[in-house]
Amino acid sequence: YVIGVDLGTSAVKVSAMNHTGEIVAQQSYEYPLSQPKPGYSEQNPQDWLYATTISLDRLILNNQLKPEEIASISFSGQMHGLVLLDEHNQVLRPAMLWNDTRTTAQCEEITAKLGDEFVDITGNQPLEGFTLPKLLWVKENEPEIWSKAKTFLLPKDYVRYCMTGELGMDYSDATGTVLLDIHTGQWSEKIAEAFDIPMSMCPPLINSIDLAGHISESYSTFSGLSTATKVFGGGADNACGAIGAGILQPNMVMSSIGTSGVVLKYEPDNQVNYHGQIQFEDHAIPDTYYSMGVTLAAGHSLNWFKKTFYAETDFSEMVAAAAKRPLGANGLLFTPYVVGERAPYADADIRGSFIGVDSMHTSADFVRAVMEGITFSFKDIMAIYQANQRDFDTVVAIGGGAKSELWLQMQADIFNKKVLALENEQGPGLGAAMIAAVGLGWFDSLQDCAKEFVHFGREYQPIPENVAKYQALYDIYHQVYKQTKSLSH
Ligand code: XUL
Repeated sequence: YVIGVDLGTSAVKVSAMNHTGEIVAQQSYEYPLSQPKPGYSEQNPQDWLYATTISLDRLILNNQLKPEEIASISFSGQMHGLVLLDEHNQVLRPAMLWNDTRTTAQCEEITAKLGDEFVDITGNQPLEGFTLPKLLWVKENEPEIWSKAKTFLLPKDYVRYCMTGELGMDYSDATGTVLLDIHTGQWSEKIAEAFDIPMSMCPPLINSIDLAGHISESYSTFSGLSTATKVFGGGADNACGAIGAGILQPNMVMSSIGTSGVVLKYEPDNQVNYHGQIQFEDHAIPDTYYSMGVTLAAGHSLNWFKKTFYAETDFSEMVAAAAKRPLGANGLLFTPYVVGERAPYADADIRGSFIGVDSMHTSADFVRAVMEGITFSFKDIMAIYQANQRDFDTVVAIGGGAKSELWLQMQADIFNKKVLALENEQGPGLGAAMIAAVGLGWFDSLQDCAKEFVHFGREYQPIPENVAKYQALYDIYHQVYKQTKSLSH
């Protein structure tokens, strides 16, 4: 078997899979999130290690997998989180996570010092969630801890280190630190020097499918795993999610509606400059890339609406009511900026709006408008691809947006693209297991592995009449940001 470890923000999920990508056993374990002050979001790295170990133990004890049957393990990890280690590789402070937003001042410093050059080197603008601003925050606010810091890692790299005794970071996660030069594939001396970060703190770089090590003697004693089990690099959760959704060709884009939403595109090369409007990262396939735009409140907007106005109703009933309302929700438009936005506008201050409210509107019109507004926001991100001559023809829908027929057809009509759903969607854990399988040599490439492990299901084609109606509404939607920006405070 191969095992994919999906180290998420609320829990870890481990999945054991066979040669055909079938799940033979699965376990998961939750850990707490600590928010001691507004904007702070931290976790204890030891919790990740214990939760992962308990889950792996349960595969052996409860699911009766034999340790020697586990040929390899790899990882998908929550991105950007800062784990600081001292000279003995001991954790120095709680990890600061991707959704920790205390670093606005540090992001401003980065822009003031390097401006466009920073975006050219890293492919990204500095955002609060990324790792470099977090390093600067510790340096400026916790000098005593900083003086002891010898290495930084990302969440899954720390767990991998504890299992193998080897320090390393894979490229797909390393780009998310915004300390990596996207063109040379090396840590950027220019950025490290500009902010006085010793290059020696940056861990060795590896490919996602590279062998990172074997289970160490000490971890074998601790966990019951075999020292013969190989451990491969793994990737950022978004890279692994993309692999598990089969996003391995330039014509494909993933549309993921979770709490936040992600539009992610496979990029065959790094010869495109989105000027930081969307994120640009190394993919888990060596020498390829992906770009992604994040809608901060996708499912979150609908959850907020449900909680506030439909608390007594089932989710499916609420969506069924929306499906009975006409396309365009009788002229009601919604922008999903209810917690600010990341892409296509990096704007923490903007807030959402309903436009065109009429006394004939029912609550079901509002639900439909919220779903359409979220989908328009994805179209806004997709327009960036079209503007950069990076068009695509297929969208793979995952997450909540793939669970509703209404939303799947709505996506096809709003994007004016073919939309595919997955059979038995597994999320980033599948991508992690695929990395473990390719690393082991079961397949020559992740593309070959996808033929066996990833199964596309239903297909939705755009309906021309709907496409034209949605295009007219999108033209109005697209103006709302500009028109309401100055009203937010
Ligand atoms: C991506 C991001 C999130 C995390 C979630 O930039 O911040 O999607 O990867 O784990």
